[in-house]
Amino acid sequence: MRTFLIAGNWKMNAAPGAAKKLAEDIAAKWKEESFHSEALLCPPFISIPAVAAAFEGTQFKVGAQNVHTENDGAYTGEISTSMLKDAGCEYVIVGHSERREYFHESDELVAQKTKKVIDDGLKPIVCVGEVLSERKEGIHQEVVKRQVDAVLTHLGNDESDTLVIAYEPVWAIGTGETATPQQAQEMHQFIRDLITQHWGETSSEKVRILYGGSMKPDNAGELLSQKDVDGGLIGGASLSAGSYSEILKISETI
Ligand code: PGA
Repeated sequence: MRTFLIAGNWKMNAAPGAAKKLAEDIAAKWKEESFHSEALLCPPFISIPAVAAAFEGTQFKVGAQNVHTENDGAYTGEISTSMLKDAGCEYVIVGHSERREYFHESDELVAQKTKKVIDDGLKPIVCVGEVLSERKEGIHQEVVKRQVDAVLTHLGNDESDTLVIAYEPVWAIGTGETATPQQAQEMHQFIRDLITQHWGETSSEKVRILYGGSMKPDNAGELLSQKDVDGGLIGGASLSAGSYSEILKISETI
């Protein structure tokens, strides 16, 4: 059985003060209750220490939204895996579509970052997904296959416990438009089949595949009920303690 991962991606929102308050508000909602899902919030780099401090002694975990491939040195503006670990991170989002689009991250770079994250004892959440024109052309599976294959060829099947993939159709991110549960399940199953081709079924059954793209309390139940949907990567709705907690609560009922 795979444990749900309910991950919030705050993107470039929540400065340290606001992030501390948001993390405290989320934790406060679960003061009297524990949960079985894994709950993770990924603030901007500068807010990670504040969020880690707010989550101390709770079940909530903190992660980052990006990382560099080198250990240290002359890489102005970059952050290393050891810095993230030192700040209390357990997970790192890698290859988000916004990084692929605005910062020109290639499949190869995403694969290198994923390997680095795993080698250094962090857990990657690798984002894949097609843009609208690719879905309209009917090449969405081809695009996702290229993105997934690039990552899997750099890893071994002993990494199946650590690797998390997030399927995020780009046309559903921040648009209010969600993939239907059937569209999500179809792609999630396709990704799991790809992993099976690389690593065999026992390993592919261990890899968690999250859905991302306008997940909200009112659609989370149906999406999370799909056989191959193992959690969510939540942007907008994770910026509200109420809606993030609601999604976490829904995951507990499935
Ligand atoms: P959204 O973002 O939930 O606001 O659509 C998801 C993401 O980009 O990870």
